[in-house]
Amino acid sequence: MKAFALCCTLMVSGATLTLAHAQTTVPPAAAPAAAPSGLYAALGEQAGIDRLVDDFVERLVRDPRIGPQFKDTKPAALKESLAEQFCVLSGGPCTYHGGTMREVHADMEINKGDFNALVEQLQRAMDAQGIAFRQQNRLLALLAPMHRDIITRH
Ligand code: HEM
Repeated sequence: MKAFALCCTLMVSGATLTLAHAQTTVPPAAAPAAAPSGLYAALGEQAGIDRLVDDFVERLVRDPRIGPQFKDTKPAALKESLAEQFCVLSGGPCTYHGGTMREVHADMEINKGDFNALVEQLQRAMDAQGIAFRQQNRLLALLAPMHRDIITRH
């Protein structure tokens, strides 16, 4: 029930974000321009993001609902990509070197439950890092629209 509510909140904020983005004139590939100001600092800059992602990936692989999907994944490589992605999304001075969300997750048959489980673990990891609720929501709102590329099993 909790997961369902979370999913829908995220979907709504995702839709809102898309709309806001469509109405703004931004150059292509200007992801940092869409980042809420101060989010990178609120996440603790690079060191904070590294700590967050470390804990997040440990939680993901231990989660009985989705952990098995990471059995062939090298945690260090995933952590590096996620840290770059969160850094870019939050407006930090980084470059993301990984694949697009659509390419990377294409053959994983990810459903809404899987997506929500991952978001739940990210929230726990952010709580554990002492990241304020409002800042958590800012990061989640940036990730939410990705459900369109990641969820392939309906
Ligand atoms: C907002 C949600 C998500 C985000 C932001 C996200 C982000 C990422 C990123 C950045 C990578 C690394 C890409 C690369 O290095 O090229 C990745 C890989 C991966 N993701 Fe996701 N992901 C999300 C949801 C999910 C979900 C729900 C699952 C499954 C339950 C999942 C399973 C995986 C797996 C297994 C890999 C590793 C692929 C490999 O070993 O090469 N992801 N994800």
